[in-house]
Amino acid sequence: MAGNLKGLVLSGGAGTRLRPITHTSAKQLVPVANKPVLFYGLEALRDAGIREVGIIIGDTGDEIREAVGDGSALGIEVTFIPQSAPLGLAHAVLTAEEFLGDDDFVMYLGDNLLRDGITPLVDEFRSSDPDAMILLQQVPNPESYGVAVLDGDRVVNLEEKPKQPKSDLALVGVYMFTSSILDAAKAITPSPRGELEITDAIQYLIDQGKRVEPHVVTGWWKDTGKVEDMLEANRLILDVIEPVMDGELVDSDIEGRVVVQAGARIVNSHVRGPAVIGHDAVIENSYVGPYSSISTGCVVRRAEIEHSILLERVHIEDLDARVESSLIGRDVTISRTDAKPRAYRFVLGDSSVIGLT
Ligand code: G1P
Repeated sequence: MAGNLKGLVLSGGAGTRLRPITHTSAKQLVPVANKPVLFYGLEALRDAGIREVGIIIGDTGDEIREAVGDGSALGIEVTFIPQSAPLGLAHAVLTAEEFLGDDDFVMYLGDNLLRDGITPLVDEFRSSDPDAMILLQQVPNPESYGVAVLDGDRVVNLEEKPKQPKSDLALVGVYMFTSSILDAAKAITPSPRGELEITDAIQYLIDQGKRVEPHVVTGWWKDTGKVEDMLEANRLILDVIEPVMDGELVDSDIEGRVVVQAGARIVNSHVRGPAVIGHDAVIENSYVGPYSSISTGCVVRRAEIEHSILLERVHIEDLDARVESSLIGRDVTISRTDAKPRAYRFVLGDSSVIGLT
């Protein structure tokens, strides 16, 4: 194989299944245990020994640039690569042609999370030296993913989100390629949905007699494109956190594994982990239950929260039912009012979802 191995992280896309959060913010920056999803992928590449990472950006590019900077804080060197429009994963690869040169690379979809990282898989790719390696996992709903059919340890067929899947092996959003994928991406034509599909490009490699190796991933994998998956990813990551106490605790109980970040104040409250309470957050006369991630600057007073992600500066006050399984965007306020007439008062963005008891 060519000596150098680069990373290519895809961080464009509209994130339609995470609206309204993605009306104003990139899906890859939604925090899981108070860290943007994207950073888990960047760290996985770094841990696999990859230094040069290209990040494909789209409409939310400015926000991604600001969050990642030059990558040095994460121990990588980042090159941002704007994609003219979200025209498919194989189109993204072509957009990165200059950055990639003829090096091998790991393509990582910026909203994917793998529990065990990718280091052993990258090592396997380096040593077995195929033309491409794809990661797969058995799923109950293969029609939502790219689906692979294997014959022994060879990949024989790939289809993107087929209505009648021929197997239950979904393509995980991490791929290892040699530069032959560039020729494949040039040879294929757009799919019925108008995109240059990476599944078609890999199928082209197979049809050309190239060696495409499968690797079935056994540790958990999450594509965080939907709210339920984002909450599930949050649960899985919180399940393995180590407790830290950098904030202030006044007349409060902490049970289980809880990270309290610097500047946070927990007053007359009960926090049951696993949970993360972010920098400068205030929790007062409240209960914060398992699998809650409370971001920087949030305020929770006289309320109960469980199994939820609050983005920065959310205010939740005086609720008499528990907030559960919720993803709440930046600067949202949910509170009780005594104003007359007595009524619900909402200021909601497009695609907001409210569930009242
Ligand atoms: C993309 C790929 C699909 C793959 C999935 C993994 O789909 O097109 O083949 O299984 O990522 O996350 P998307 O999530 O962009 O719809």
